Amino acid sequence: MDIREEYLKYFESKNHERVASAPLVPEDATLLFNNAGMVPFKSIFTGEVPRPTNPRASSCQTCLRAGGKHNDLENVGHTARHHTFFEMLGNFSFGDYFKEEAIDYAWEFLTEVIKLPVDKLWVTVHESDDEAEKLWKKHVPADKILRLGDADNFWSMGDTGACGPCSEIFYDQGEEHFNGKEDYLGGEGDRFLEIWNLVFMQYDKSSDGSMTPLPKPSIDTGMGLERVVAIKEGKRSNYDSSLFMPIINKVQTLIGKEYKYATGASYRVIADHIRTALFLLAQGINFSNEGRGYVLRRILRRAVRHGYLLGFREAFMYKLVDSVVEIMGGEYDYLITKANVVKEQIQLEEARFFKTIESGIELFEEELKNTKDKVNVEDRESTLGYIFSGEVAFKLYDTFGFPLDLTEDMLKGKNLDLDSAKFEELMLEQRTRAKAAWKGSGDSQAHGDFKELLEKFAENTFVGYEFLAHSGEVLALLDAQFKHADILQVGESGWVLLDTTPFYAESGGQMGDSGELEGFAKVEDTRKFFGLNLSQITLSKTLKVGDVVEATVDISRTEIIKHHSATHLLHAILYDVLGEHISQAGSLVEDKRLRFDFSHPKALTHEELVEIETRVNRDVLRAIPAKTEVMCIEDAKKSGAKAQFGEKYGDEVRVVSFSDASVEFCGGVHVDNSANIGSFIITKESGVSAGVRRIEAVVGHAAYEHFCEQRVMIKRVEAEVKNLDIMAGISRLKSNIIELKTELKESLESVKVEITSNEVNGVAVVVEELPSGDIKEKIDELKNQNEKLCAMLFQVKGDKVLIAAGVKGADAKAGDWIKKIAPILGGGGGGRPDFAQAGGKDKTKLPDAKTQALAYITEVLS
Ligand code: ALA
Repeated sequence: MDIREEYLKYFESKNHERVASAPLVPEDATLLFNNAGMVPFKSIFTGEVPRPTNPRASSCQTCLRAGGKHNDLENVGHTARHHTFFEMLGNFSFGDYFKEEAIDYAWEFLTEVIKLPVDKLWVTVHESDDEAEKLWKKHVPADKILRLGDADNFWSMGDTGACGPCSEIFYDQGEEHFNGKEDYLGGEGDRFLEIWNLVFMQYDKSSDGSMTPLPKPSIDTGMGLERVVAIKEGKRSNYDSSLFMPIINKVQTLIGKEYKYATGASYRVIADHIRTALFLLAQGINFSNEGRGYVLRRILRRAVRHGYLLGFREAFMYKLVDSVVEIMGGEYDYLITKANVVKEQIQLEEARFFKTIESGIELFEEELKNTKDKVNVEDRESTLGYIFSGEVAFKLYDTFGFPLDLTEDMLKGKNLDLDSAKFEELMLEQRTRAKAAWKGSGDSQAHGDFKELLEKFAENTFVGYEFLAHSGEVLALLDAQFKHADILQVGESGWVLLDTTPFYAESGGQMGDSGELEGFAKVEDTRKFFGLNLSQITLSKTLKVGDVVEATVDISRTEIIKHHSATHLLHAILYDVLGEHISQAGSLVEDKRLRFDFSHPKALTHEELVEIETRVNRDVLRAIPAKTEVMCIEDAKKSGAKAQFGEKYGDEVRVVSFSDASVEFCGGVHVDNSANIGSFIITKESGVSAGVRRIEAVVGHAAYEHFCEQRVMIKRVEAEVKNLDIMAGISRLKSNIIELKTELKESLESVKVEITSNEVNGVAVVVEELPSGDIKEKIDELKNQNEKLCAMLFQVKGDKVLIAAGVKGADAKAGDWIKKIAPILGGGGGGRPDFAQAGGKDKTKLPDAKTQALAYITEVLS
């Protein structure tokens, strides 16, 4: 039975609109990930955006709970039912039906559609909710209805937002599932499994904790797909179901060890985490050191650590991608398209971590030794001083990805405590940093007075596709903190809402327009807030609500749109040249440059870049007229237009095309004809993160400027090499260098060093410093010139002194000689009786060394 489909079908039969799953990254800046089915509808519940025509919806929403208020990460693998990534089935009423229908629908679906046995179902309601209890009594015997407090039966999405009392439905898996843990409804035990939560949305909680009633009571429900599938398949754990077992089986095959439930936590962690990693990566989140990408990295590393425990010593997670695609690709087709790129991204990341796992263990061992060395024998009797550094534990966690429990595990039996207070302190600091990283600037905006503006004016009209100047009436003004202002004074900054505006609000990578409200203000930027197009202004004349102004867009817009159209052409060519796996991972369109990020596993070759640049220019020069059409989403998809993952599109979409060169969903502004782009020059290709490349390019005026800069550079090189043909000039310089080198070598060789020798008992004795040349060769040369010889030569090289000694036909040993002398120069060395060499570090002792060398050999020969 396809429960997902049965669910959506059932609610369609109850007039619910079937809504596709939104991406894991929500539009809401205050949330890290979509953590419940209601998140995409959040603003409808609170009334921030108007209710849709159909006030009933249902969805199967992909969710992630690995951070923030709802975080299940630490439980994953150790319980039968926790996941980081999961699918939540939900039906929603936006001020339409309330408790009664919600309860009746849930009951009918469970007992008649998927036919769960009635006697196994239990429910809970909020302790104050007589009404819900009464409604349930229609279906469930009174002794199977429990009243619980806020902890169990009050639900809120986050610290703020829509919330309300709830009613949960439990499935009794039977006494044999008693696992010794809190075996009651709402407890942590395995016997009673919560399957469905019906939330009676009634309040909007604000950051100070106060609760305002919602405009209309609503319904939000959530049922974990994994749980229901497991129950229907008669499995005790979600992980035993067909959604997970193929992944676990694959892990077994790869490692060659049998999975047993009781000892299989690592297998389950891996099976859970690979789903999460695949979905995040396929939706365009990349590994990084902050925000969401950091959560992704930690999840993958946690899985790899569990792989390590199982015995894996090299990347293996990427080999599980196909198993997940097989299970879920039918529902989420982007997994199929992205599978290969994601595999490469995962493999790179894992391989990197496998390297640090070993180093992490080394660091651990080192610290263990340090700690033990620090503790003297007497102290060992007490635990004082037996503290393993919290900083190191944190470093293990943070840098090497070792969770605290692994470090604690490794410390077991070592009679050492861990400074967990310090660890927690550092964790807290880091969490604050991570939070700051994703909260961004959205925070102040989230509390601005947008709701009232939307209620009063709905969205304003953008006329900037056709006009670069247009008159508009000031509908509203906001100060810099986004609070209402009736008037803004000279020198003040704030935001203006015009009824009709030519200013493009930043989106789809295209920067927001700047310009002027003639005579009144400079427009610095334009952005969208909840669909409202607002321009940021600094006043040169007092402006008040009701004023009519002439709004003119800055001329830089002409250049922005060239970069935007070029981005579309580039996107299409990248697809052609590199393959269909590439997908947009980020885009920035400004007046002086464009930056396009896309998934691709390796750096582009010079040839690929040349081909890309050439082909984009070819499209530019074909002078293709741009066509903009607004069409229904189905037709747009059929036309093959490229859509952006994660973009929310309405029923009607705008499609921008340049004939056969490019067709894309886009709300941005474009040139009328590709020829207006001028020319397209790639200025840089680089890597952004594992599996993501970046191309930077310039077009239009910026391309011309780029060309001028290059020309100036070439002129300077010409002047430098004193030749109009710079290649010839450089060749000449090169051959000059070769000539000079040869000359230098020859002249050095030609410096004949005057070597003086004494005679001691018929043996020529040489003790000399040789400023240049090879002292070993010189010794050979001296040997050739003399029948009987004892020679020691020194040469200063930087701070060091080289020493070589040679003996021929004399009763002395070069090795012994050098052993006596090298220490004077702070060095050592030795060698054969006929030849020895050494090095010294102290050149200031050279005179002394020479005197003693002569004295020694004279004595030996005497
Ligand atoms: N939003 C509710 C939950 O996640 C249904 O439990």
